[in-house]
Amino acid sequence: MVRLLVTGGAGFIGANFVAYVLQSHSEVEITILDKLTYAGNRNSIAKLLGSRVKLVVGDICDGPLVAKLVCQTDMIVHFAAESHNDNSLSNPWPFIQTNIVGTYTLIQAATKYHKRFHHISTDEVYGDLPLPGNDVKFTTTSPYQPSSPYSASKASSDMLVRAWIRSFGLQATISNCSNNYGPYQYIEKFIPRQITNILSGRRPKLYGSGNNVRDWIHVNDHSVAIWDILTKGRIGETYLIGANGEMSNKAVLEMILRLMGKSQDAYDIVKDRPGHDLRYAIDATKLRDDLGWQPRYTDFQSGLQATINWYSDHQDWWQADKNKVEASYARKNQ
Ligand code: NAD
Ligand code: TYD
Repeated sequence: MVRLLVTGGAGFIGANFVAYVLQSHSEVEITILDKLTYAGNRNSIAKLLGSRVKLVVGDICDGPLVAKLVCQTDMIVHFAAESHNDNSLSNPWPFIQTNIVGTYTLIQAATKYHKRFHHISTDEVYGDLPLPGNDVKFTTTSPYQPSSPYSASKASSDMLVRAWIRSFGLQATISNCSNNYGPYQYIEKFIPRQITNILSGRRPKLYGSGNNVRDWIHVNDHSVAIWDILTKGRIGETYLIGANGEMSNKAVLEMILRLMGKSQDAYDIVKDRPGHDLRYAIDATKLRDDLGWQPRYTDFQSGLQATINWYSDHQDWWQADKNKVEASYARKNQ
């Protein structure tokens, strides 16, 4: 058996990744290390726990715990992070602590025990692009220009991993992915917030003009890409993950409204996010050419419909937090 340590495995992408590995790679045993912050949810992984998947509730900044778990594994996939831009603007400290100090703690242990490490990062480290009208996209040679405390903390963590590869021989790869959508995403994020607003009788909320563009990828396509990089990627390399899914926020919201049987203009325009990145777009040629990865969820509308169905069918998964999340947004006029 191959032993895999997954940090942040009770979060959105981590939980989907653990489910994918459990189903598709029978030779793997998984230990999840997760602090179960507000964004981590035991119910996202409850059905996966058993002889091949174990949960350790703990902090990636806890050096002795991390050293013990890293020593007992073969490979590490590192998802754990504070992940929401809006939260990073109101309270940056947990982002510095978890995203930077936590990554440092993990790579120190992975170096000491000579373990394969894969670092999950975001395209937001590259800052933003001009709105469409030109073909420019992020590539692995794009300069780092993060805009928010979140993206700056992720950029810092990438830099630490790069330095540890070069100076200490850490056996690591890095991936920077675009915006994910799918089941188990916390309801503070754009797509699940709008779906659950409609399901709970609230109006969706669009920041500013709604012209900002995000490059959407289904979380299952992200999981397969991570597995391909972990098993076939070249040590020291960075791979960008994206599925050519560029859409404006307004267009996504109008599609959600239409799929949920509401009028196209049944939403509120609210205060814009300070420093709001205009556009993200990924050139994933390297991942496709070198590792043969291809996205399978290429029809965004059907992926979105399935996601709407999931939130509709799993109201017990999100309902308890809905009032709290919306009250917090309301305090910021969002
Ligand atoms: P998420 O917020 O849904 O989950 C984060 C998980 O990390 C939670 O389970 C939380 O409990 C755990 N965690 C937080 N702090 C911790 C700590 N100190 N110790 C242990 N566990 C801790 O995030 P997500 O959307 O699943 O993102 C996962 C990773 O993917 C992050 O590194 C993020 O930067 C990256 N990423 C996300 C997206 C996206 O669209 N969501 C896109 C690209 C990259
Ligand atoms: P989000 O899901 O927070 O992801 P990110 O900031 O990592 O891209 O937001 C996606 C886009 O949606 C972003 O441009 C901000 C916008 N947005 C809204 O218009 N309304 C909302 O209620 C939220 C949460 C986000």
